Amino acid sequence: MEKVIIVAKSDNNVIGRNGALPWQMPADLAFFSRQIKGCYLLSGRKSYESAQGKEIFSNRPFVILTRRKGFQPEEGKAAHSLEEGISTAEADGAKRLCILGGEEVYRQALKVADKLIITEIHTEIENGNAFFPDINFGHWKEYKREDHKKDRYNPYDFSFVFYIRVR
Ligand SMILES: NC(=O)c1ccc[n+]([C@@H]2O[C@H](COP(=O)([O-])OP(=O)(O)OC[C@H]3O[C@@H](n4cnc5c(N)ncnc54)[C@H](OP(=O)(O)O)[C@@H]3O)[C@@H](O)[C@H]2O)c1
Repeated sequence: MEKVIIVAKSDNNVIGRNGALPWQMPADLAFFSRQIKGCYLLSGRKSYESAQGKEIFSNRPFVILTRRKGFQPEEGKAAHSLEEGISTAEADGAKRLCILGGEEVYRQALKVADKLIITEIHTEIENGNAFFPDINFGHWKEYKREDHKKDRYNPYDFSFVFYIRVR
């Protein structure tokens, strides 16, 4: 099973502010929807419960990480460690696991992921309070990049960048 981290981050590595995304970038949402097609999804409990979380998870197989014993998401499954989340997806026959954050989950998953799909939002976000961890580029090879200019709907230049683990 392929394990893929999907994230949108600013140039200063911000991924969230006060429990939500710090930007409105419809082009990224459309890209994100294409990337998670056919994926089994894995997310931290906080991202799952955020506003953007609910829609993403409807009608898809998914597992939510939580340390709470009684927590049960409405449709998907709960797991109590990253390893249990991964084995839950594997036991359900997933071919591709999309790891959707947030910060706490990315920090753990960066060590075990096979691919990174990163939307670089080309701005510095002030007052962010969730961050993507530093990437050791010695471990990753960029194999595809698409650069886009801002437009009337998307307020920042942005790039879709794909990496595969090399070690
Ligand atoms: N830009 C992006 O692409 C993107 C994507 C996703 C999220 N975000 C942003 O990220 C922020 C949320 O990140 P976050 O770090 O606060 O929360 P999070 O990673 O979404 O969720 C953290 C929670 O997940 C559970 N958890 C994490 N690791 C676990 C483990 N090993 N075992 C069991 N449970 C585990 C715990 O849940 P319990 O508390 O229930 O025990 C923990 O409190 C938000 O601002 C959101 O908007 C951004």
